[in-house]
Amino acid sequence: MGYGRSSRIRTCDPLLPKQVRYRAALYSDVGAGIASALANRKKLYKGEYSSRHAIRGAAPAMKLGLKTAMIPVDGAAQPAARCLEDGGLVAFPTETVYGLGADATNSRAVARLYEAKGRPSFNPLIAHVSDLQAARQIARFDDRSLRLAEAFWPGPLTLVLPKATGCPVSDLATAGLETIAVRIPAHPAARDILRAFGKPVVAPSANLSGHVSPTTAAHVLGDLDGRIDLIVDGGPVSVGVESTIVGCFETPLLLRPGGLPREEIEQVLGEKLARIPDDGGKADAQPLAPGMLASHYAPRTTVRLNAATLERGEALLAFGPHLIPGSDQAIVMNLSEAGVLVEAAANLFGYLRDLDAKGPRAIAVMPIPHDGLGEAINDRLQRAAIPRS
Ligand code: TXA
Ligand code: MG
Repeated sequence: MGYGRSSRIRTCDPLLPKQVRYRAALYSDVGAGIASALANRKKLYKGEYSSRHAIRGAAPAMKLGLKTAMIPVDGAAQPAARCLEDGGLVAFPTETVYGLGADATNSRAVARLYEAKGRPSFNPLIAHVSDLQAARQIARFDDRSLRLAEAFWPGPLTLVLPKATGCPVSDLATAGLETIAVRIPAHPAARDILRAFGKPVVAPSANLSGHVSPTTAAHVLGDLDGRIDLIVDGGPVSVGVESTIVGCFETPLLLRPGGLPREEIEQVLGEKLARIPDDGGKADAQPLAPGMLASHYAPRTTVRLNAATLERGEALLAFGPHLIPGSDQAIVMNLSEAGVLVEAAANLFGYLRDLDAKGPRAIAVMPIPHDGLGEAINDRLQRAAIPRS
């Protein structure tokens, strides 16, 4: 059997550190979850999971029948690493958003990941590694990319680089591209897991494809309960928007604005980052960072940008100390009363989810400045505002 290494089917049946057992009362599902993860494995080996269905289309709402365990970060590295080793899917915190990790070298695990997310297969994944040496085993760096790596890693920057010769990452994870997206996350729990696992971990944001990215473990559970094996709960993340993606091509390209402001990158490069030609909001456009589909970061509710007044039935996503007319009777969530962009980024996805859940007629969003993290915030909001059929 191509996938099985039966002598190792103890993953997700981890010899949980005492600490975790002790705290299991808080996470009462741990014991049962771990046990049922074993059953998950058995189904997997019997080939009861088909990846074809979900890879083809949008995420089906149904669960995949897995029991999803949730454990706290303390002592999570070893169980998480064993689960990954066994082909499991592990959600873990990074400083940007929660990621859904799979062994990047295991095509079967990567296929399960696409299935769990309901993600289109043409959308390649970011390989996460623990240090620069590990990054150099999967990607080729030149002077410029090394400078960026040294300045910003670990941190919220992803570099798209030529694949290294002999790169062990599955072609399914890179969607057959000659390039690979690489990142060293800064979150201590993410780094501990990566170090314990010792191989690259592909990790898209841990949400159903098309949904808003998760910034808490509860968001992950809401989307992926019954679809993944393990969630490592590290509390709310600090940055709140995904990493900035830079394509290290002849001209360095900003493929996705994100948690590291463009200005800081340009300062280290000593040159401007070109921005990819925008897709003009067309849902079927083919962007250069293939995952940047126009309508991507999407709540269910209609989103209206740059609101100057609030209309009847709308909820307000506010920014800054001065609310717009019409707000007094409405549901209001303020991204940052003080008008601080870092705070707004950290609150963005959680507030979008919360407002969405309250079921207003629409979510009106106040204007947000474009500098610093404002570029990423406005990018995500524009995508959330694109009408979907
Ligand atoms: O902050 C983040 O980057 C989070 C955390 C978990 O690390 N991850 C994340 O992954 O946002 P994901 O899969 O949601 O977004 C990855 C983006 C997609 O837009 C994808 O198309 C792009 O990276 N990408 C991956 N490989 C690429 C490549 N070789 N060339 C261009 N774009 C690539
Ligand atoms: Mg995503």
